Parts: sequence; structure tokens; C-alpha cells
Amino acid sequence: MTILAVETSCDETAAAIVENGTKLLANVVASSQELHVTTGGIVPEVAAREQVKVIIPVIDFTLKQAGCESCDIDGIAVTVGPGLIGSLLIGVETAKSLSFAWNKPLIAVNHLVGHIYANFINHPELADGSIFPSVVLVVSGGHSDLVLLKNHGEMQWLGGTLDDAAGEAFDKAARILGLGYPGGPAISEAASTYLRRASFEALAKEDHLVLPRPLLHANNYDFSFSGLKTALLTANQTKKYENTALAFEFQEAVVDCLVKKTIKAASHFNAKSIMLAGGVAANMRLREIIGKSAGNIPLYYPEPKFCTDNAAMIGSAAFFNQTFVPWENLVPDSSLSLES
Ligand code: KG4
Ligand code: ZN
Repeated sequence: MTILAVETSCDETAAAIVENGTKLLANVVASSQELHVTTGGIVPEVAAREQVKVIIPVIDFTLKQAGCESCDIDGIAVTVGPGLIGSLLIGVETAKSLSFAWNKPLIAVNHLVGHIYANFINHPELADGSIFPSVVLVVSGGHSDLVLLKNHGEMQWLGGTLDDAAGEAFDKAARILGLGYPGGPAISEAASTYLRRASFEALAKEDHLVLPRPLLHANNYDFSFSGLKTALLTANQTKKYENTALAFEFQEAVVDCLVKKTIKAASHFNAKSIMLAGGVAANMRLREIIGKSAGNIPLYYPEPKFCTDNAAMIGSAAFFNQTFVPWENLVPDSSLSLES
């Protein structure tokens, strides 16, 4: 089955063509990120205005890249939520129009489920179900959830953030430290600089900054990053610590919380695998520490370019969870979650 997928939930305008859920024939992502650097974050109206300009050229280019015509496409997948409503509408209305004009079935995809299926792109060996049950950590700019994926389409929500999402926390921390947008890669780079320079003695010193690990020992699978961000702000105001040291410890604290809860869930549910998903899954320190903690449990994470928003993951999720919707009935839902 060859699926044309469209993703416009945030500032990206993306299209992809995916065969049988794992084989990528074309992948195009247009981003308006440089426009958001000047504002230190996304202005929804600005993002949507860019998307409406590029959606058709992006789809056109994707078809050309794959050497496909409309007759080669078996279905159209589109992100239905969660996301920015103006942005979602552009993808959804375009997909509905194509579904009607080409007479192709339409598949609605939850963006967060899409992030999970980024793990399957170029990995047909994962498709046979032997990785289930899998504990999945979904950490993006808007969401942080821990779920148990029992099979394709069969999911149990275990917990999530009570306040800021992990990616949002990285973005806010970067703003506090004046490191720019998007914050995740900026914090990660500053933390690596610190790690390269700092001696182990310095890290062990008593005045080495230690930030809190909220909910680390709580008997649940929830996260909380808002207090951690305030602790970073307070530490920064003391002017005692270098920016890179603050970035390092902030990343350590976030990674610590994410890893401990994920491993706890994996061992409680006898998971056959652990998967990382979402923009924060691109974080190398998270991959390193969870890799060390996972022991014998196989760990999977998408290639960095499939961690952040793209349409390939939507095409993959659509193949494995074929929820067909008549085009007349499809409406975007900006607050869709993994809990429902
Ligand atoms: O999944 P995504 O592309 O968009 C949403 O669906 O939200 O995630 C974007 C988020 C941003 O908050 C960004 O700072 C974060 O992912 N991110 C990272 C890294 N790369 C992107 N966070 C930590 N480390 C990274 N290397
Ligand atoms: Zn996303």
C-alpha cells in the first residue's frame, strides 16, 4: 500500500510517500523556523500563512521525488491533531480535497502516534510485532507521555507531564540562558561543551550545581519540568555558574527524570523493547543514558531527521493503524492526546 502523507501540525509543511509503512519513497519538509528565530518561538499566524503558500508545491515536489503520479497512490494520510489549529487546517483541508479529487481513502493520524511510528521508517524488521509490548517515551515540544504499546493500534497511556513538555522545558531553559531557538539542540551543544572541558574532579566538587529531579521517586509515570525551569532561573540569577554548566545540569536533570520513569515502566510491564519518539528523542545524552540503563531490553530510536516533525512518520502510522474517514467528516482536533 502506497500512502501519500501530509503533516502541518506546527511550523513544518511536510509531505512523504511511504510504502507498506516502512519504505520511504519520498520525504519533503519545508520549515519556517528561521522566521521564528527572531521571535524566540512560533507565532501561530505566521506559521500558518507560510504553510498555505507552500503546501501544494511541497506535495508536488514529493510526488516528483518518488516518481509517482496520483494513480500510484492508494491512500492519503493526514495529521488531524494535536497541534496549532490554523496549521492543522491547512493540511487537513488539502488532504480532504485530494481525497475527493483523486477518489482515494483518507486516513486520520494522531501526530503523537506518528512520532512513535518514526521508529519504523526504514526498519521493516520491526513490523512483525515481536517488539511488543513496547514502552514508548514520547517527548516533543508540546507533549511528554509514557505509553505501553501492546500491539499496532493497542495502546495504554501510563503517564505524562503535569506541566511543561520536555521539549518546551528545553526551549524555555535556552531562553533563560540566552541560547536561542529551538532550545533543545542549543542546550545540548552547550552541555557538550561543558562536558568536554570539565574535569571529573570539577563535576564531583561540592559546589557543583545540582538541580532538582521533580517526581523522580513518585509512585507514578508522570513528569514535571516547570519547577526545574524555575530552579534554573534562580541558579542563573546567582551569577555563580557558567552558562554551559547550567545547560549541562539542566539536561542531566531532564534526562534523569525521563530515563528513570521509562526504565521503571519497562521493567514493571516486562517490555520486550523501549522506543523513544518526538523531537527530544534526538537528544544524544538521552540516548546515551537510556542505552546504558536499558540493560538487555532492546532500545530503538528514530534517525534524528525523523525525530522532529515530518510526514514520513504519519505515512507509517497510517499504514499500521488504518482509521479511514470519509472526507466530509474529517475535522482537525488541536487538543487530541494519547490518553483518549
Ligand atoms: O516533535 P517536535 O519536532 O515538535 C512537536 O511536535 O512539538 O519537537 C520539537 C521539540 C522542541 O522543543 C526542540 O527543542 C526539541 O524538540 N528538540 C530537542 C533536540 N532537538 C529538538 N530537545 C533536546 N535535545 C535535542 N537534540
Ligand atoms: Zn511533533
